Amino acid sequence: MPRSEKIVILTGAGISAESGLGTFRGAGGLWENRRVQDVATPEGFARDPQMVNDFYNMRRHRHLEVQPNAAHQALARLQADHPGEVVLITQNVDRLHERGGSTEVLHMHGVIDALLCNHCGHRWPKPFAEAWRLEDPCPACDGGPTRPDVVWFGEMPYHLDEIEGHLLSCTLFAAIGTSGQVYPAAGFVRAAMMAGAHTVEINLEASAVASDFAEHIAGPATQTVPEWVDGLLAE
Ligand code: APR
Repeated sequence: MPRSEKIVILTGAGISAESGLGTFRGAGGLWENRRVQDVATPEGFARDPQMVNDFYNMRRHRHLEVQPNAAHQALARLQADHPGEVVLITQNVDRLHERGGSTEVLHMHGVIDALLCNHCGHRWPKPFAEAWRLEDPCPACDGGPTRPDVVWFGEMPYHLDEIEGHLLSCTLFAAIGTSGQVYPAAGFVRAAMMAGAHTVEINLEASAVASDFAEHIAGPATQTVPEWVDGLLAE
């Protein structure tokens, strides 16, 4: 990889699909049988906290059974070989990048193994093995209600200023396993392109913003991502 390279990588649910976590918009997706408005909006939580609590505890429990796959591990290898040159941004809340060996990850949609206090904004870890209980108070203010530390529809993603800075200074931008239907992440490719970066989409099928990318690599992430990383490391 040339020394001048700064790579920004955006991942979505597709990178974790072969680990056994359903994607949001594919067949068998997580939102099936649940309305997004009910389980992934502040209004849905206010309306029926118990339903949201059950849904997230079910999702949290499933994370005990899944393992990172070859795509997560390949990205960790790329980061380890080029410290400080590879910015990894994920929309996923699953922690599989860290479990696959990445140490620096920008979780723009939060994480599912942490809670957030609606009252004071305090955030704290909640391991998958422990159930999130609605009646448990916030450890900082003793108030609540507490909720998963994930970004719901209608809320502002985390780290946007830092991400914008990285997009405007990168030489290569890759989006892996994301459908390009949810903004602002779907617009990152255009920012990178306008900054002069080469752009590559790595996905099972063309995303909603596929035409914004200069290069396309089609196929399952566990095959395509390790091959792509090997190619970069050989440059
Ligand atoms: N390898 C590569 N890509 C895959 C694979 C695979 N094995 N399996 C599925 N994909 C692709 C699908 O073709 C699809 O384009 O991954 C993409 C997954 O898209 P979504 O389910 O829409 O997930 P994502 O883009 O991450 O969703 C964005 O939407 O629901 C919200 O907050 C949630 O972070 C999420 C955001």
